[in-house]
Amino acid sequence: MLRSIGYVSTAAKNFSEEEIPKILSSAINWNTPHNITGILCYNDGNFLQFIEGEDADIAEVFNIIYNDKRHYDIMKIFDESIQQRVFPDWRMALRRLDQLPQDLRASCRNLMSLGLPKSAEPVDHRADIEALLYAFKLSLR
Ligand SMILES: Cc1cc2nc3c(=O)[nH]c(=O)nc-3n(C[C@H](O)[C@H](O)[C@H](O)COP(=O)(O)O)c2cc1C
Repeated sequence: MLRSIGYVSTAAKNFSEEEIPKILSSAINWNTPHNITGILCYNDGNFLQFIEGEDADIAEVFNIIYNDKRHYDIMKIFDESIQQRVFPDWRMALRRLDQLPQDLRASCRNLMSLGLPKSAEPVDHRADIEALLYAFKLSLR
């Protein structure tokens, strides 16, 4: 069964943006043979990532990612079985917030701010997730 997980997290204090290519290349190395696809978005100390693949592979890679000390406060915003992949051709695409269309940056920021302690209130973020997935998909064509 195909499954997709989306999460937001906060980059470690000593994290530098220059480490992102390294993350991306180890992600692609692992994701390719395991058929994991998805997108990683970075903005100013926050990550937002969607991963998709077979259930067991997703569980395994999420566990690896979860234990990575380069980020913390990892909060799932999405975890569902899916009929088909949103990012079938991307072993991990990378997008920065400023590469997204203006009107979608707010959705992305809203989701990323869920990881911050100040928004402990439950928020209905489904609309933001769907808008963002759709925009990512268009931007990757
Ligand atoms: C925000 C973030 C996203 C990551 N995404 C993935 C991923 O999609 N797939 C993957 O295998 N590793 C991913 N990683 C890296 C793993 O956590 C782990 O560091 C890596 O698999 C270890 O490989 P290495 O020994 O080649 O560095 C991610 C790490 C971070 C911090």
